[in-house]
Formats: sequence, structure tokens, C-alpha cells
Amino acid sequence: MSHTVLRNACYSELSEVAHVMARAFWDDNLFGDIIHPKRNQYPDDVDLYWLRRARVSFWDSRWRFIVAVEKDNTGHERIVGIAQWARLGEDGGKRESSYWYLQTYIGDLLKPFFSFAMMIHAWLWPNRASDPMTEDIIERSYPYFHTIWSDKRAESWFLDVLAVMPESQGTGVGRKLVQWGLERAEADGVYASVISAFGKDGFYCKCGFSEQYGNATEGEGNPLAGVKGANIYWTAIRDRV
Ligand SMILES: CC(C)(COP(=O)(O)OP(=O)(O)OC[C@H]1O[C@@H](n2cnc3c(N)ncnc32)[C@H](O)[C@@H]1OP(=O)(O)O)[C@@H](O)C(=O)NCCC(=O)NCCS
Repeated sequence: MSHTVLRNACYSELSEVAHVMARAFWDDNLFGDIIHPKRNQYPDDVDLYWLRRARVSFWDSRWRFIVAVEKDNTGHERIVGIAQWARLGEDGGKRESSYWYLQTYIGDLLKPFFSFAMMIHAWLWPNRASDPMTEDIIERSYPYFHTIWSDKRAESWFLDVLAVMPESQGTGVGRKLVQWGLERAEADGVYASVISAFGKDGFYCKCGFSEQYGNATEGEGNPLAGVKGANIYWTAIRDRV
């Protein structure tokens, strides 16, 4: 296990966070091959894709950006992994302290502004690495499977993005970042959930996601139909008693 420390990301670190995501998902079938077929030609545009997404969701009070950082010999911190966790459900907006209420209030004001600003940003600096037909394929697929997070599965800590720098993979960083959300889910008495990328089912099973229920490519007309992977995993509440 590496000597990494987990903490909340700062807004000023989002460029580095985006770079970690771009590197980690470089060879992914969805974010790499399908969304960014020209990534080798325009690598910096892939960073911008992730940065624009992060700059909007960072202000959503339900989201937590958790970074895994390591210090080098000079004491300089380096982000080696990132997990983007969201508290879904009715209790998603509730926070324990007045500091969180203040952050929620500020975030609710800033998110629409950043959303608009990033639209302009994408218009000024289009993503040349992407296929314009598939760049928003994930957003277009949500209506086909989001109902899975309903009824008894409505309350959940959802792991939206998990990325570890390729050179730090296999050292326990991913497991630590998963553990962060599993502990929150356990404390809240709710599920933890994740949509597993192709080839990552084994990792999530090892980390404690014991139940597979649903797949994000399901549903007639789903633009993700035929994409490999996307099994949805859950931690069964009864397993964690
Ligand atoms: C998937 C990912 C987050 C795993 O992080 P990691 O830091 O390399 O994983 P860890 O070192 O914490 O591994 C924990 C355990 O899972 C195992 N594991 C890691 N990747 C695995 C995989 N793809 N399949 C099966 N087991 C895997 C490890 O061998 C380890 O097992 P052990 O405890 O028995 O030794 C990382 O490889 C990554 O960023 N991949 C690219 C981006 C991605 O696909 N993210 C997931 C999106 S859903």
C-alpha cells in the first residue's frame, strides 16, 4: 500500500485533477476509443474535456472531489488519484455543519454560472480529439437507466469517476478512494453504487461491491447500446452490518 493521503480537492487543482482523469481513461473503450478517437492527435483537448466537466460538477453540493496525494522528496504534493463521489437521493443536499450550508449556498449560485461559462469555453476551444457525434453520449444515455436509482436504491453514495495515474495503479490508491465512499455509505446506512468500466468488474468486487444490478447500456434507444462494460454494482446494506 502506498503512502497516500486522501483529502478534498481545491478548485485551483482541477487542471491537475483533469489531467489524472485524461491519463487514466486514455485507453478506456468509452472515454478513449468512442468519445476521443483523435486523442493522440490532440492530447491537450482531452484534458480540457475533463476540466470543463469538473469545473461544473465541483460546485454541485452533492458532489465530493476526493484526491489521493503523494509528497515527493522536496515536499511537493502530487495528485495520483481522484474519486468523484455523489450523495444521491433526498438526503443528498443535507450536510452536517454550517460551513457546508454556506458552501451549498455558494455552490448553488455558482454552478449555473460555471455551466454557462464552460459552454462558451467549449465553443471557443472545441474538443478536436472527440467525435462530435459521441462527445455527449454519456449525458444522452442518462434517461435510459437513471430510474435504477429509485425506490430502495434511491439513497446512495454514487462513485461517478475513479481515476488513478497509470504509474500509480496497482499500489492500493484505487481501493483507498473507493473505501472513502463505502465508509460514508455505511455511516448513512445507504447503498454505495458505481457503473463499472469495461474490465473493472473484478476490481469493484474486490473493493466490496458485492451485488450487480442493472447496466447503463440497457433500454431501447440507449446510445450506449453495444458498448462493452457498464455493469452497475452495489454494496448490499445487509452485507455491511
Ligand atoms: C480501476 C483503477 C481505479 C484501479 O485502481 P488501482 O489503484 O490500480 O487499484 P488497487 O491497486 O487499489 O487494486 C485493488 C485490488 O484490485 C485489483 N485490481 C485492480 N484492477 C483490477 C482489474 N481491472 N480487475 C480485477 N482486479 C483488479 C488489484 O490487483 C488489487 O487486488 P489485491 O488487493 O488482491 O492485491 C485504476 O486501474 C484506473 O484508474 N483505471 C483507469 C480508469 C478506470 O477504468 N477507472 C474506473 C472507472 S469505473
